[in-house]
Amino acid sequence: MERTLIIIKPDAVEKGAIGKILDRFIQEGFTIKALKMFRFTKEQAQKFYIVHKERPFYGELVEFMTSGPVVACVLEGQNAISRVREIIGPTDSEEARKVAPNSIRALFGTDKGKNAIHASDSPESASYEIPFIFSELEIC
Ligand code: TYD
Repeated sequence: MERTLIIIKPDAVEKGAIGKILDRFIQEGFTIKALKMFRFTKEQAQKFYIVHKERPFYGELVEFMTSGPVVACVLEGQNAISRVREIIGPTDSEEARKVAPNSIRALFGTDKGKNAIHASDSPESASYEIPFIFSELEIC
């Protein structure tokens, strides 16, 4: 069993897609181990995405992630990190609609910035991201 973090981004929350996205993961066989809604401060979003600080889109990414509430969730399942990445689809929602039309980013995202959902991309990122968002007591 493996755990991963997903964050339903402000665009998908605004669209009313929280329930549909969580249900997709439940239908795919994952167990929800932790769940909460919150709004990132600028400092928190900068720190969460610190690995991207030298990338040209960092400022825009932080601005978008602080633009409204998000829903974070710890999912557990066999090979959860890679399976969840497969289910969310490629970073760019426009590309996702071509190559993975049933992926979450194809269904709920707009482009490569507003792409509906974040998911940990490796065991290293999951072990940074899960305790960044959830305390030990909040994980069931
Ligand atoms: P990245 O880690 O490359 O993608 P993923 O979320 O699929 O792991 O990028 C992190 C986030 O940064 C991405 O979800 C959306 C944003 N982003 C942009 O705004 N513009 C870009 O050109 C890229 C590549 C990413």
